[in-house]
Amino acid sequence: MLAPSQAPGRRPLREAARPPMSELDVPAGFRIRPSRVEDAEGIQRCLDAVARERRHIAMLEAPPLEQVRSFVEAIAAGAGVQFVALQDEAVVGWCDVLRNPRSGFRHSAALGMGLLAPVRGRGIGRALLAAVLEGVRPQGLQRIELEVYAANRPAIALYEHFGFAREGVKQAGRVLDGEPADILCMALLLPPLASDRR
Ligand SMILES: CC(C)(COP(=O)(O)OP(=O)(O)OC[C@H]1O[C@@H](n2cnc3c(N)ncnc32)[C@H](O)[C@@H]1OP(=O)(O)O)[C@@H](O)C(=O)NCCC(=O)NCCS
Repeated sequence: MLAPSQAPGRRPLREAARPPMSELDVPAGFRIRPSRVEDAEGIQRCLDAVARERRHIAMLEAPPLEQVRSFVEAIAAGAGVQFVALQDEAVVGWCDVLRNPRSGFRHSAALGMGLLAPVRGRGIGRALLAAVLEGVRPQGLQRIELEVYAANRPAIALYEHFGFAREGVKQAGRVLDGEPADILCMALLLPPLASDRR
């Protein structure tokens, strides 16, 4: 049987998972770095703005600050990887990968990301995703999965650029304001670390 990484139609994983260094370059005026606990408020504000657009992510508003802070703390303690994009020290975007803690699923993690509307389309999403994929490399993850609304062409193009494959569609996976939206499931498969036993 073919390993998932050899399945027809999948990009070669090593290449897909290692972005050229130029993609780690950040557009002028912006900075990308791992999140810190003191970013929690900025992340919450940014998450809230994207959520309230009601178009791109499942949340309709950000969780309470304490919950966002706990998430950032968990990431710092090793639950995953999170980077933020900053403009003049204000958080304008985030990208995180959270490892599934359950036995049998610890090789996999879920990815989420978003940018404030005014800073989209300038290469920041690409730089954020490149940074996160570099950041997860030592963690031995073999599968990074995500869900994206099928109508979200910019996000899908970005994910495919980094080698994420389309795995299936949840038809009318969300019905919001009377509007059905299909949800595309995507995943990036990464080669296991040589010494990995889970
Ligand atoms: C999706 C998102 C993170 C992409 O970040 P971005 O900074 O806007 O994208 P970039 O400028 O880095 O562009 C990277 C790639 O994305 C794709 N892309 C970006 N904007 C696009 C658009 N308007 N139409 C089609 N493709 C687009 C392209 O493939 C582009 O590569 P290219 O410049 O070589 O063509 C950002 O637009 C966003 O936050 N959207 C709202 C929240 C969201 O959708 N989150 C993801 C939920 S799954």
